[in-house]
Formats: sequence, structure tokens, C-alpha cells
Amino acid sequence: MNLMIINGPNLDMLGARQPEIYGTEDYEDLCFKIDQWAQDLDISVDVRQSNYEGEIVEFIHEAFEERFDGLIINPAAYTHYSYAIRDAILILDVPVVEVHLTDISQRDEFRRHSVISDICAKTIKGKGFEGYKEALEFFFDLL
Ligand code: DQA
Repeated sequence: MNLMIINGPNLDMLGARQPEIYGTEDYEDLCFKIDQWAQDLDISVDVRQSNYEGEIVEFIHEAFEERFDGLIINPAAYTHYSYAIRDAILILDVPVVEVHLTDISQRDEFRRHSVISDICAKTIKGKGFEGYKEALEFFFDLL
């Protein structure tokens, strides 16, 4: 099983970015953990990050064209307003899991709505880095 994992804007600044909210571990730590969890489950992962909406859209096109078996995505702030990312996800015919480090339903008003939740197989929020592990396990259980 081959999954694409996409992380959106500012997630590359984990560790430095509002550590009281997102914690002190950095993006490299996250990627390291994802690799370990994926290896344990015998899943191959292609982990990407971008601060640009159009680039994220193109990553999703690539996931479609290269026939990835699923997508795990944390669109970060784009979660709340990117119809371009929503439309790209709708191209995919494989399961998509939405992950958020924080519980977006308990934060600012504008974060409470996700424009992709209703088209994702599962949404995991508020579990920190472990949310990505849960997303990988979701795909493992599909096997
Ligand atoms: C986030 C939540 C978003 O509201 C925020 O803009 C992010 C990260 C999360 O993982 O908790 O950048 O997606």
C-alpha cells in the first residue's frame, strides 16, 4: 500500500510555531515518526509539505495520476476555505483521511468549519502527532 501524506502551510514551522498550541517537536520529528509508524505497518509513504495552495492541488493530482492507494491530508489553514483543495480531493477515487493536530472544533470560530470533512472517509483531530498514526492504522485496517 502506497499513501501520499500532504501537510499544508506553516506546518514546516512546527516547534517554533505557537508551541503552546502545537508543541515543541518540529516538522522533522513528525516526518520521522510517520516513517517509523508506516514501516511498522508495512505501508509506504510519500510525505510532502507545501505553503502554496496550487502546489497542494498539484500534489493531489499526482496522487491520482500515480495511483496512490490513499491520501492523508492536513491542509492546515486551507482546511477552512480552500474549495480548490476540496475540488482536487473530489477527483480521487481512493479514501482520504483528514488530520489536524489540534481539535479545530474547540478553537477560534473560523477554524470550526472544514470544507473537506464531508468528503473524507475520516477526520482525526486533537491528537497531536498521534493523529497521523491513527490515520495510517485506518488504512492498515482497510487491507
Ligand atoms: C491545523 C489547524 C488549522 O486551523 C491551522 O490553520 C493549522 C493546523 C492543525 O493541524 O491543528 O495550520 O490544521
